[in-house]
Amino acid sequence: AKSGYDHYMLKEIHEQPRALRKCLRGRVDELTGSVEVESLAGLDPESVQFVACGTSYHAALFGARLLRESGVHAQAFLASEYATAPPPISDGGLVVGVTQSGETADTLAALREARRRGVETLAMTNVVGSTAARECDRTLFIRAGPEIGVAATKTFSSQVVAANLLAGVVASGDDAREIVEALRDLPGQVQAILDDTRAAKVAETYVDSEGYFFVGRGHHYPVALEGALKMKEITYKHAEGFPAGELKHGPLALVTDETPVFAVVTGDGPEATKTVGNVKEVEARDAPVVAVTDGASDAGRFADAVLEIPETHPRVAPVLANVQLQLVAYHVAKRLGRSIDKPRNLAKSVTVE
Ligand code: M6R
Repeated sequence: AKSGYDHYMLKEIHEQPRALRKCLRGRVDELTGSVEVESLAGLDPESVQFVACGTSYHAALFGARLLRESGVHAQAFLASEYATAPPPISDGGLVVGVTQSGETADTLAALREARRRGVETLAMTNVVGSTAARECDRTLFIRAGPEIGVAATKTFSSQVVAANLLAGVVASGDDAREIVEALRDLPGQVQAILDDTRAAKVAETYVDSEGYFFVGRGHHYPVALEGALKMKEITYKHAEGFPAGELKHGPLALVTDETPVFAVVTGDGPEATKTVGNVKEVEARDAPVVAVTDGASDAGRFADAVLEIPETHPRVAPVLANVQLQLVAYHVAKRLGRSIDKPRNLAKSVTVE
């Protein structure tokens, strides 16, 4: 069943190009840049609240950011917090539950709270016929195919692409064509990263480190959180992800020559320049820096190692950066002999609140 791979996680990482093609099939028009998803027809929310847990929450953060960029009021909430203290929402609002399994108790509770208040709900899920899909007014299936490894990998990538589809439907902007083109090229670019051996080498170099930090800004902030979550859940090592700007507000005290810092930086705009500034602060503390970058900024100059990703639209780049981080976490865990597909204390689907 693992098709020759040592672990389901690695198999699922390698399934990403195919999963992403399936997520896009029949939903985008490259000529016009338009996105058409039947189940989202007529959707025009006044505001959007995303609810999710864990990895799906990171995709939700990304989704909210995309909508805000296009002028839609949008926020992401941890489902467990939302369910007990739901924030106010306007009449024409939409609550989007991002849940791979469609069975996560906290996310279901948050969605039910929204329904109780008469708010329209949308399930962004991988599982047709799941509780979330059945209970919500609308569905957006991410079509990643079954994911067996407890660590979410391909479903995160598919959620990020699905978030782009949702944004394309409710808030299409001037660069719609470029985004659709970038999405079309994404599966091939993911494949190029999978064929690259640098992440395995970085894992070998830093396997004995005390802990790991991940920083990113803007679109890459959720990637920093996700990189850290993946690392901690399968390696059992301490890992933390931050928005790059937060480092100097506390976490920097923990940064030493024993704690590699993975910095995700793409493009050469103001966000990249600021993150490069943060990288320099870290470098000055003698921490090893691993730049995950498309090479557009000079982040690589201050790094001890570089994990390259192809250039693409900023809304698509997080998928590529995250694939490199998935591979690093996997190879560190493998070297440490961890139970990669079933990490201790964790379950694939958390069905209690
Ligand atoms: O099935 P869901 O997407 O609702 O699951 C939510 C989280 O439990 C899940 O994303 C979890 O954080 C990942 N398995 C971690 O890799």
